[in-house]
Amino acid sequence: MQYYDVEAVRKLFPVVEKMTYLDSGFQTPMSTPVKQALEAFVTESYETAGPKSVWIERMEATRCKVASLLNAAPEEIAFTKNTSEAMNIAANALPLKAGDNVLLIHGDHPNNAYAFLNLKKKGIGVRFIAMTDVVNAESFRSHVDANTKAISMSYVTFHAGHRFDIESVGALCKEMNLYFVVDIMQAVGVVPIDAKKVGATFIGCGTHKGLLVPQGLGMLYWDRTRTELEPAYLAAISLRNPPSDFIARPDDMAVAPTASRFEIGNFNLSAIHALDAALDLIAQIGIDNIQAHCFALGDRLIHGLDALDVELVGPRDHALRAPHIYVAALPADQWMDYFASVDVRVSPERDGIRISLGMFNNASDIDRLLEVIRTRSRATGRSPQAA
Ligand SMILES: Cc1ncc(COP(=O)(O)O)c(C=O)c1O
Repeated sequence: MQYYDVEAVRKLFPVVEKMTYLDSGFQTPMSTPVKQALEAFVTESYETAGPKSVWIERMEATRCKVASLLNAAPEEIAFTKNTSEAMNIAANALPLKAGDNVLLIHGDHPNNAYAFLNLKKKGIGVRFIAMTDVVNAESFRSHVDANTKAISMSYVTFHAGHRFDIESVGALCKEMNLYFVVDIMQAVGVVPIDAKKVGATFIGCGTHKGLLVPQGLGMLYWDRTRTELEPAYLAAISLRNPPSDFIARPDDMAVAPTASRFEIGNFNLSAIHALDAALDLIAQIGIDNIQAHCFALGDRLIHGLDALDVELVGPRDHALRAPHIYVAALPADQWMDYFASVDVRVSPERDGIRISLGMFNNASDIDRLLEVIRTRSRATGRSPQAA
C-alpha cells in the first residue's frame, strides 16, 4: 500500500543515490528543503546581517508548528540545544528535595538518565526499574513509594525500538501525583505524539532524527498548568519583564508565564529555520502516513529476517514496537565493516545491528539489506548470526 509518494520524497534526499541509508535513528541525512532553508539563512546573514527581529518572528512561527505537532500550545514550547539540555532543564526544575526519589528504566538512553543521576548529589534517589518489552503503568506502580516524586523515560528506545505505553504511565503519574518527564528523541517526526493525552509534565527531544535537522537544536514541552516549575538557570529571555534598557533588576525577576522561562540567551536561529522547512515537509506528508509507511517497511524487514533465520531484538508486535527502529541480532563487530563496504549505513547497537527508517526509505532499501546479508552468509557458508 502506498501511503504517500515515496519516490518524490526520495528525490529530496539525494544521499539515497549513494548508499542504502538505514540509519535515521542516528541522524537523518539532509533533505533539499532543509538545505535550502539553511542556505537562505546564510545568504540573508551574509548579505544583510538579519534583521534579527524578522528571524525571531519566524522562530515564533516555527514554535507554533512544533506546538501543533505535539498538540500543545506555543506557550508550552521552549527551544533548547538538544535532548540532554531539555532533560537537564526538566530534572532541575522539579521541586525535589533530599530523600525524594525518581524512577527511571534501566538501560534507557544515558542522556535521559544522567540528568537525574546528577541530582543524587542533592540527596535525591534514582531508582531503575527493569526494562522489558512492555513498560507501562503496572511496571512502575509497585516501585512508587511515599517519596517518589517523578518518573522519567523514553517513549521509543534507541537500542531496540520498543515503544512504551507512556499514556498509561502518564495516567499513573496523575493518579499518584507524580511529575512525568518523557524523552521523545527517537519518536518525534515518525510517531504521532499528543502531549495532552500523555499527560506529561515535560517532554524533550533533539531535532536531528525524525525532525530532519542537523545536530544542535532541541525542544522542551512544559505543561503550562505547572506554574510551580521554575528554571534552574536564568537569562533576560527567561523573565516575564526582560529589562528593555538591558540593566538587570534584582527586584523584578519573575519568570515568564510561558516556556520561555526555560530558554537561556540567544537561539540556534539557523537550525530553527531548517526545522521550519522540515516541519512543513512532515506536515505535507502527514505523520500518520510516515508512521504507516515505516510500519509496512518494518513488517517486510521482519519477514525477511525470519526467512534468513536472523533474530529480531526487541518487540515484533505493532502495539509494542516503534515503526522505524529494528535491531537484528547480527554481531556488530563482525558485520559493520561489511555493511560499510557494500554502502549500507546502519548502526552497531548493544545487541546487534540497528536498522532505522526514515520517510525516504522504500522496499528496495529493505530488500537490498536482506540481499547483502544473504550474499555474505552464502559466501561464508555460515548462518548470519554466527557470521
Ligand atoms: C532516546 C534518546 N535520547 C537522547 C538522545 C540524544 O541526546 P542529545 O539530543 O542530547 O544528543 C538519543 C540519541 O541520540 C536518543 O536516542
